[in-house]
Amino acid sequence: MRRNNDTKYTPSTGTVEVRKAVCQRLKEDCGVEYQPAEIAVSNGAKTCVYAALRALVNSGDEVILSAPYWVSYIELIQMVGGVPVVVEASEAEHFKITPEKLAVAITPKTKCMILNNPSNPTGMMYSRQELEAIAQVCVEKDIYVISDEIYYRLAYDNREFTSLAAISPEIKERTLLVNGVSKSYAMTGWRIGYVAAPAPIAKVIGNYLGHCTGSPCSISQRASAVALSASQEPVEELKAAFEARRNYMVERINQIEGVSCIKPEGAFYVMMNVSKLVGKELFGHVIQDADDFASLLLKCGKVAVVPGTGFGAPGFVRWSYATSMENIKEGLDRLTKFLRNVPA
Ligand SMILES: Cc1ncc(COP(=O)(O)O)c(C=O)c1O
Repeated sequence: MRRNNDTKYTPSTGTVEVRKAVCQRLKEDCGVEYQPAEIAVSNGAKTCVYAALRALVNSGDEVILSAPYWVSYIELIQMVGGVPVVVEASEAEHFKITPEKLAVAITPKTKCMILNNPSNPTGMMYSRQELEAIAQVCVEKDIYVISDEIYYRLAYDNREFTSLAAISPEIKERTLLVNGVSKSYAMTGWRIGYVAAPAPIAKVIGNYLGHCTGSPCSISQRASAVALSASQEPVEELKAAFEARRNYMVERINQIEGVSCIKPEGAFYVMMNVSKLVGKELFGHVIQDADDFASLLLKCGKVAVVPGTGFGAPGFVRWSYATSMENIKEGLDRLTKFLRNVPA
């Protein structure tokens, strides 16, 4: 690194090398053309969502998102002075916002929506047709979309991922596409994410980042440029391992009485419906809600799941299968015992 002089500040939106690598990856994987001036690289996708909101949202502007949502969105919207407008998406709707519900939620104060595809926490994905319908509403109503596509490489059953920006030039003009190396390359600790957006917006993001983060870590940028440009074969291996774990987890959950789940199409999460357990007595305690269930499962069953309340999904808990098959088996065995009132 020292020999290559990679130890210095870089441009605030990242080196030309890493931004070119991002453009190449977006073209190959998503069929969308961007120039390096339209890319801002920063410290993880989380900072990129924040910087995108910073660039778009003025105090009091409304930002639409669907529930279940990734926990940080609400906080990030509020941190820039925006007002989150939450649209419920039920399990029967596969946890996805419909164009009709989106249209109803838009007001003169709406600046943008956040779309997360594939989704954390639900693992559900939008098809090209669904994206076309959402894009049509956004273009007609002239709102921006922050499209968080961080799990795009983890799409199962040979499902084709469609980037929102690939739908039409009109929606691309209004899209701030967020992605990064954290999930696709299992490089969470390297802290590299990026936003792809029309040049004037990318410039505003760059101005903000220049004063806020300076530049992303030079060493991580070099490593990310390699991950993005080298053979993508390891990503396919990672995906195959996740798909096997998903299949196992979904099948097991749906065999256990009292709980159920729909089959996620991407990412590495399963939303388990625990609403039937509310009011049931386990270990001398009557379950009040999903939070209560999650605490009792941790205490008496020795399994950690995330209660859905934080995701705007009461009645659900989220499992992650970003862990070994052994851990998954053990976790589900423990859940089975727990539901039979057998201590771990
Ligand atoms: C939907 C979603 N967006 C963004 C992020 C943040 O990614 P990063 O670790 O690159 O900041 C995560 C991480 O969990 C996520 O689930």
